[in-house]
Amino acid sequence: MKVLIVGANGTLGKAVAAELGARHNVVGASRSSGDVHVDLRDAASVETMFRELGQVDAVICAAGKVPFAPLAELNEAKYLEGLQDKLLGQIRLVSAGTPHVRDGGSFTLITGILTEQPILSGAVASTVNGAVEAFVRAAAIELPRGIRINVVSPTVLTEAMHAYAPYFRGFEPVSAARAAMAFARSVEGRQTGQVYKIW
Ligand SMILES: NC(=O)c1ccc[n+]([C@@H]2O[C@H](COP(=O)([O-])OP(=O)(O)OC[C@H]3O[C@@H](n4cnc5c(N)ncnc54)[C@H](OP(=O)(O)O)[C@@H]3O)[C@@H](O)[C@H]2O)c1
Repeated sequence: MKVLIVGANGTLGKAVAAELGARHNVVGASRSSGDVHVDLRDAASVETMFRELGQVDAVICAAGKVPFAPLAELNEAKYLEGLQDKLLGQIRLVSAGTPHVRDGGSFTLITGILTEQPILSGAVASTVNGAVEAFVRAAAIELPRGIRINVVSPTVLTEAMHAYAPYFRGFEPVSAARAAMAFARSVEGRQTGQVYKIW
């Protein structure tokens, strides 16, 4: 399969690329590294990427940024930042990507444990993750030509604990390699509309 991974060079994306790269032709994308460049915040950039790539079997997102701040300090601009990047960025990937995904192919998006288990300063992340999971359930019943869509929701990654540990006290981290296996389940299996919780 030809598998596009947006964010292939990140903490999670590297592990996903290693897992799927063992069996498939992985094309990495991001703003500044990889085989193709894309900025998920820019619809034209996403469309250009798919035009350059041609047909693919699977599209994976391992990107998506949200701001963290105490609830009282959150304003509309902060919510819009998260919505524009992690929510609309992934929706753009599905909208622009659908015509380029082969029959029976798949999209696999990314959320995280904060959808269900909030942390202090994580309101934008929880909001955006919840919206992405709702989008995935809705899109699953309307995507054409047998195209599937799932989302992986990992807890905090072991590889990110050096930076995130103070925010995730009491959370048991998982390895990026373990989270990557859920992407393989989505791409190489047949399920659709699933939220794979890795915690
Ligand atoms: N790390 C964790 O513990 C953890 C746990 C659960 C869920 N997640 C989720 O997993 C996703 C990836 O997290 P991560 O920790 O692996 O992040 P990361 O290490 O910062 O990597 C992010 C990757 O995405 C790319 N990227 C960033 N913004 C982009 C944009 N606008 N357009 C295209 N590519 C972009 C980056 O490359 P460029 O800078 O070159 O664009 C990089 O390759 C996020 O949605 C995060 O919320 C992470």
